[in-house]
Amino acid sequence: MSVAPATAPERVTFTSAELLESGSYEAPLIAGGVRCHGGFEDDGGYRSPRMLHRGPAIEAWQSQLRSEGQSLVEIPKALMPPQYPNVDQAKLLLRHGVRDPIVRTLTIISIVEGFGAIIRDVKVPALHELVVEPVEGTSLAHLDKGLFEAHARDESGYRDEGGHKQMWEAARDVALENPKIPGDVLLRMMGGGGPGQRRKVERPFPQLDQTLERMIQMMARVCVVEVFAEGTFDWGEQVLSDAEVSAAPEAAGTMVRHIRADEKPHVEYLRTGLSELRARTLRTVDGKTIAGKTVVDGMLHNMLHEMTRSRPRDQREDLRGSLAEAMEAAADPAALLEEFDSLESVWTPPATTGFEPSSEAA
Ligand SMILES: [Fe+2]
Ligand SMILES: [Fe+2]
Repeated sequence: MSVAPATAPERVTFTSAELLESGSYEAPLIAGGVRCHGGFEDDGGYRSPRMLHRGPAIEAWQSQLRSEGQSLVEIPKALMPPQYPNVDQAKLLLRHGVRDPIVRTLTIISIVEGFGAIIRDVKVPALHELVVEPVEGTSLAHLDKGLFEAHARDESGYRDEGGHKQMWEAARDVALENPKIPGDVLLRMMGGGGPGQRRKVERPFPQLDQTLERMIQMMARVCVVEVFAEGTFDWGEQVLSDAEVSAAPEAAGTMVRHIRADEKPHVEYLRTGLSELRARTLRTVDGKTIAGKTVVDGMLHNMLHEMTRSRPRDQREDLRGSLAEAMEAAADPAALLEEFDSLESVWTPPATTGFEPSSEAA
């Protein structure tokens, strides 16, 4: 008779089919008449989609990193800019019958969620050629074998199953009773100034293979966006679950909580992959090498520095562009604007990101 070792080695290699497998549910999640991903256990608890193996896999890759003495990248919560309008401002507007700005914000959230599908188009280069140390049995080796695809499906839905895009639309529509959606939301996001605006992509590390550089940059960007989204989703949950301003506080609040639960693995696999790269050495196109830490920290620093400054400004400008017009729905627009402004959050981005390039680096 053989005795299992005290700590059996955890499984670290999975097929894409496994990383996309949800398992079976007792009941499906229906949002706004749309069958969505995820579902309910027999005790009524919600279980996120595609987590049957993805959940244990991420945990195994993280514990592998820790056992190698490596740390996991952590984006400090203090860097998360406040939502504009904040919770109090949003509730104030709704109490005065000014719904457009909130409908607009919620619609932007749902559109941004749908955009998340682009993660499946990120090209993964031959990592075993570009990374000095082995990558077998890491999350990096699974990015194009289920992880990016699972993420894309979670955000925008898959086949006849809705994802976060549809779940946010459902939360908005039950809470605000099928509001009229401003026709220019997408247009303004794509135009100048809006949060969906794409800034010029530069090459922070031109010595890297460009596909590798783009992949790491995308992972760093999406990781930061996902962490910052926690603040936005908390805002959504607080506003939509308030019975004073929401027609369906229970249903809408619960829907946002399901979405938030689904987001956890996104942050976790991305920070695991970034941490694995950070613990390794990358080959440059001129036959030299560069520490993964220099690249990952450099990209995170740039991203955090830029987004902690641009995001509050973009959100504020976008909202204020149509605020005066929206406030005409109120009995006394001038008094409302004054009260709205008195509730504004004062926030200054922290001076450091925690990912500053170290001074000894040449
Ligand atoms: Fe999402
Ligand atoms: Fe996400």
